[in-house]
Amino acid sequence: MALLDKKKDLSFKKDGQIPKHIAIIMDGNGRWAKKRFMPRVYGHKEGMNTVKKIAIHAQEIGVKVLTLYAFSTENWKRPKDEVSYLMSLPVDFFDVFMGDLIKNNIRVMTIGWNEQLPEKTKDAVLQAVEKTKNNTGMILNFALNYGSRQEIVEMTRQVAQKVAAGEVSADEIDETFISQALFTNKLGPYHDPELIIRTSGEIRISNFLLWQIAYSEFYFTDVYWPDFTNATLESAIADYQDRNRRFGGL
Ligand code: FPP
Repeated sequence: MALLDKKKDLSFKKDGQIPKHIAIIMDGNGRWAKKRFMPRVYGHKEGMNTVKKIAIHAQEIGVKVLTLYAFSTENWKRPKDEVSYLMSLPVDFFDVFMGDLIKNNIRVMTIGWNEQLPEKTKDAVLQAVEKTKNNTGMILNFALNYGSRQEIVEMTRQVAQKVAAGEVSADEIDETFISQALFTNKLGPYHDPELIIRTSGEIRISNFLLWQIAYSEFYFTDVYWPDFTNATLESAIADYQDRNRRFGGL
């Protein structure tokens, strides 16, 4: 596979450009477990431990927002048992790691539709957001029950309603206006990821942040999410540091 992580041996520069917002599609939990003759959920559990390690490392190296695709609007189609396990993960995660998040000054946020989550999951998530709301370090942003097309549909509907009500004129709608109407607006100045990573060798976007990634750099790695380490993150950043971001200019 012509993947960027095989291109050359780059080393990460601590004092180089660190992407302020990194978004990760955490893929390969199921295959990781299958390789070990274990049930798929075992991979998700290990994936949850990886989340903690990577969040802490990202914060240490100066990332300001880490967005993790934890559950998509399409993931409801998975077998009931797997969905229910995935829904129990935020409960476990915040139960076990809340102390570490607070100690590391990490603030939790979410994008997606919380209302459709099971009550326990929703409570755990909302509590984590509340308990960490005064933290000033990195934002750990979980995309939970998130789908980008639906986000754009809802945003369009809201904007259309405002125009119909005469609150906004069609001429006022520009890129900033649209960005402000999306879930990611809550992330503040770093609403758009500068670097997007997908693990497990799949090379697609899967309905993730379609508007927000217009100028993002992409990094694909064969590593399954449970095997993703601080060094994998650093390799992705090293690759990013080696690129020439021109935003359409010269
Ligand atoms: C994709 O791998 C992964 C997911 C759908 C779930 C990701 C969730 C976690 C890593 C844990 C999240 C933790 C918290 C705290 C919410 P896959 O199952 O599609 O893997 P496969 O492609 O190998 O089958």
